[in-house]
Amino acid sequence: MSRVGVYPGSFDPVTRGHEDLIRRSLRFVDRLVVGVAEHSAKQPLFSVEERVELLKAVVAGDSQVEVISFAGLLVDFARRVGASVVIRGVRAVSDFEYEFQMAFMNRQLWDELETVFLVPAVDLTFLSSSLVREVARLGGDVSAFVHPQVERALRAKFGK
Ligand code: PNS
Repeated sequence: MSRVGVYPGSFDPVTRGHEDLIRRSLRFVDRLVVGVAEHSAKQPLFSVEERVELLKAVVAGDSQVEVISFAGLLVDFARRVGASVVIRGVRAVSDFEYEFQMAFMNRQLWDELETVFLVPAVDLTFLSSSLVREVARLGGDVSAFVHPQVERALRAKFGK
């Protein structure tokens, strides 16, 4: 039986940190569905279509990974794609409270979905999409933090 995992997030935009978690997830799931949340609490820089396109470029050629946008509850999306595991990255203690709340709520909503927390590569623990957006907006070099296509998209967004 193949194990399907879902890796949900805003991915605004996808960073090397997300790429690292995708690679790590594939060590224990057979298929990974990257779920791009259409509606996020935050006002996104990239539209959901742009975020999906960038992710597809980043995972291009990996037949185990699929990128799909979703609206509504994560548990409903996970059920729809046949996932039994939801993967979230935890970079620091400060991430834990929010992540625990989400994991417990998701379990209340659907008890058969397990949340697995993954720790990123140590040199990526400082990385976040919001920091990448800020550095790019102010004209800084983000080439070490994102895929070249994402870097180009950021440059085009900020007219740099
Ligand atoms: O990258 P983010 O912004 O931290 O991702 C948060 C996300 C999209 C995973 C979370 O907001 C989510 O699951 N949204 C879907 C709506 C939902 O199910 N909300 C209840 C979760 S407890």
